[in-house]
Amino acid sequence: MGKRALIVGGSGLVGCKLLDMLLEGRHYDAVTAVVRAPLHLKHPKLTELIVNFDQLEQYEQQFSADDVFCCLGTTIKQAKTQQAMYRIDVEYPLTIARLALQQGARHFLFISAMGANPASRIFYSRIKGIAEGGLRQMPYNSLSILRPSLLLGDRREFRLAERWAGAFFRALPFLFAGPLKKYRAIEAETVARAMYLMAIDNPQGTTVYSSWQIEQYAAEQKATVPWR
Ligand SMILES: NC(=O)c1ccc[n+]([C@@H]2O[C@H](COP(=O)([O-])OP(=O)(O)OC[C@H]3O[C@@H](n4cnc5c(N)ncnc54)[C@H](OP(=O)(O)O)[C@@H]3O)[C@@H](O)[C@H]2O)c1
Repeated sequence: MGKRALIVGGSGLVGCKLLDMLLEGRHYDAVTAVVRAPLHLKHPKLTELIVNFDQLEQYEQQFSADDVFCCLGTTIKQAKTQQAMYRIDVEYPLTIARLALQQGARHFLFISAMGANPASRIFYSRIKGIAEGGLRQMPYNSLSILRPSLLLGDRREFRLAERWAGAFFRALPFLFAGPLKKYRAIEAETVARAMYLMAIDNPQGTTVYSSWQIEQYAAEQKATVPWR
């Protein structure tokens, strides 16, 4: 029998690619997408769970899954205040992780970010570090933390700085070799593929993947794990 997946952030740049893989891949029988608005997607494996993220406890019974994929996140521009950003990037993931664990989940896969550190002076890096710390406290069988660099991909929303940075990385990839490889931008699809493959591989304990390790993982595992 295939596994059951729970995905949060399945409408985002990485999340929608991962959701597609979870639905089309052969390893999962059932996929629950926790969203705040309809995805307008129909698939026999898909259960769309529209929730109020400020009252996640109400839906605990429906958070039952083997593997939980968290692709949730925002920007300060979208969130408007640091308090709101903290709620989305830290409190929601930790609440979902706790509720899914109570429902028997064994593997939590979390997109953090390069430079995540609870002591960082940079707010974004600090909150990602805090979220990682909270997840490490939970007795998951497996915890996979991915720390990508800049994400590349076609985004509906216009983000000027990311678009410029993405164009720079694409034009001059050779600059990001050797010791600078950790700064290399990464395709959102590669991050999604790595997450899928990590869930299938199911390493025990906590594993943290830097951006280039995510890239390497996706490339190596793709060759060995039958995809569909
Ligand atoms: N952008 C980068 O270059 C970069 C670099 C390193 C790490 N990361 C991290 O990678 C992860 C994925 O990034 P991404 O660019 O794929 O994200 P994204 O496209 O911005 O998508 C974010 C997801 O979070 C959901 N979300 C945002 N605010 C929400 C709220 N208030 N309530 C409920 N759901 C909410 C969105 O749902 P809606 O569709 O409903 O808005 C969407 O599904 C994030 O954790 C991000 O911090 C990003």
